[in-house]
Amino acid sequence: MSSSRGQFSSKTGFILAASGSAVGLGNIWGFPTNAAENGGGAFVLIYFVLAFFLAYPALMAELIIGRHTKSNMVSALQQISTGKKAKRIGKYTGLYGVIIATLILSFYSIIAGWMLAFLLEPLLTITGFPEISAWLTAFGNTRNIIFSAVFMLLTTAVVSAGVEEGIEKWSCRLMPSMLLLMACLIAYVMFQEGAIAGLKVYLLPDFRQIGDPQLIASAMGQAFFSLSLGVGTMLIYGSYLRPDENLPTMGAIVTLVDSSIAFLAGLLVLPALFVAQENGVTIYNAAGNLIAGPDLIFQTLPALFHDMGTIGIPVGLVFFSLMTIAALTSSISMLEVPVSYTIENHGASRSLATWLIGVIIFSSSTLIALNFDALFTVVVTLTTEYSQPLLGLMLCIFATWVWHRDMILTEIRSGHPQVEQSLFWKIWPGYVRYCCPALIILMFIQNVVG
Ligand code: PHE
Repeated sequence: MSSSRGQFSSKTGFILAASGSAVGLGNIWGFPTNAAENGGGAFVLIYFVLAFFLAYPALMAELIIGRHTKSNMVSALQQISTGKKAKRIGKYTGLYGVIIATLILSFYSIIAGWMLAFLLEPLLTITGFPEISAWLTAFGNTRNIIFSAVFMLLTTAVVSAGVEEGIEKWSCRLMPSMLLLMACLIAYVMFQEGAIAGLKVYLLPDFRQIGDPQLIASAMGQAFFSLSLGVGTMLIYGSYLRPDENLPTMGAIVTLVDSSIAFLAGLLVLPALFVAQENGVTIYNAAGNLIAGPDLIFQTLPALFHDMGTIGIPVGLVFFSLMTIAALTSSISMLEVPVSYTIENHGASRSLATWLIGVIIFSSSTLIALNFDALFTVVVTLTTEYSQPLLGLMLCIFATWVWHRDMILTEIRSGHPQVEQSLFWKIWPGYVRYCCPALIILMFIQNVVG
C-alpha cells in the first residue's frame, strides 16, 4: 500500500510542508492580535510554554500514529485499536476530524480570499481602475464568493498534483518566499516612527495577566490552531514521512519554526499598528482596546499603507502576498485531509477526489459567505475553540491508552535507534497519557464555563 501512496522526498520537504501547514493566518494575524488583546508579553510567554509543553507532545502523537499506519486519520485510529468498540470510536473520531478540517477550510478560504482581493487592490489603483479597486476592498457577497473560489482553485490545483509534485514542491517554493517577504517588511517597519511603542506593548509582559483564565484559554486555542492539531493534517503529513526520519526531532523543528514565525509576525504587526497611529490612524476602539480582529488587517493596516504614499503600494503588496502565501501552504494541508480519506477509503483517483472535495468546500464557503453574520463566528468557534482541543484530546488518548507502548517505541526507533535512552522517551509517554489530557480537559472546561 505504501508504495502507491505519496511520500515526501526529503527531510527538508517534510519540514517545509509541515511548517507550511502550521504557519498560516493563525500565526501572522491570530498570534499578534491575541497577544495585543491579552497582555502582550504575558501572552507570548504562556503561548511558548503551551506550544512546547502541550502542543508539541500532541503533535508527536499525530506524527507517530500517521507514520506507523501510513494512512488517513479514519483508518489510522482503527488500525491502532484492538477491540471492536475502540475501532468504532476510532472511525468516528477520524470522521469527525475530516469534517472539522473541511469546515475549517470553508471559513479559511473566505478570509484567504480577502487577502487576495487586498493584494490586487493597489495594482488596480495604480493601473487606473479605482472603481474595481474600491469593490475589492468593500465587504460584499460577490467579492467574498469570487475570491474564495479563486483561492480554492489555487489550493485544489496544488493538492491535485500529489504529495511530492504538489504539496512538497509548492511548500518548498512558497515558504522561503514568505520568510523573505516577512524579513523585508519587519526591517522596513522597525525604522518607522512609532515602531518602538508597538514593540513595548508586544514584548513587555503585564505579569498581572499571566494567570488570567481568558489568556490561558486563548493561548491554548492559538497553539492548537497554529500547529494544525486534532484534525489529522499532521497525521497525514506524518504518514508521508520516510521510516528513517527522526520523528521527535522533526516535530521539534516544526514546533520551533511555527512559534518563531508567530513571534516574528508580532514584530511586524504590532509595531506597524503604532506606526499607523503615528500617521494619524486610530488604533484603539471605543472601549479603549487595541483594534484587533478583521479591522486591524483590513482597515488599520491598509489605512497605514495608504498614508505612506507611493512606498505604501509595494509595502501593501508585499504584506498581502505574505498573507496569501501563508494561507495557501496551510489550506493545502487542510484539503489533503478529506482528499486522502476519499482516495484511500473510497478508491477515488487523486484528481477526482481533489476536485470533488474542492467543489464541496467551495459550496460550504458560499453558504457561510451568504449567511455571514449567522454562520461565520459559529463555525470558527465550533471548529477551532471546541473541536480542535477535543480531537487533540482523543488523539492523545488513542496514542497512549488504546495503542501499545511497544509499538510506539518500535515506530520511533526506526528513525532514532537510541530513543529508549533519550529524554524524550523518559517523559513523553507518561506525559501524553496523563498530563496532556488533564490539561486539555481543564482548559476546555474553563473555556466552556468562561
Ligand atoms: N495552522 C494554520 C494557521 O496557523 C491553520 C490550520 C488549522 C491548518 C488546522 C491546518 C489545520 O493558520
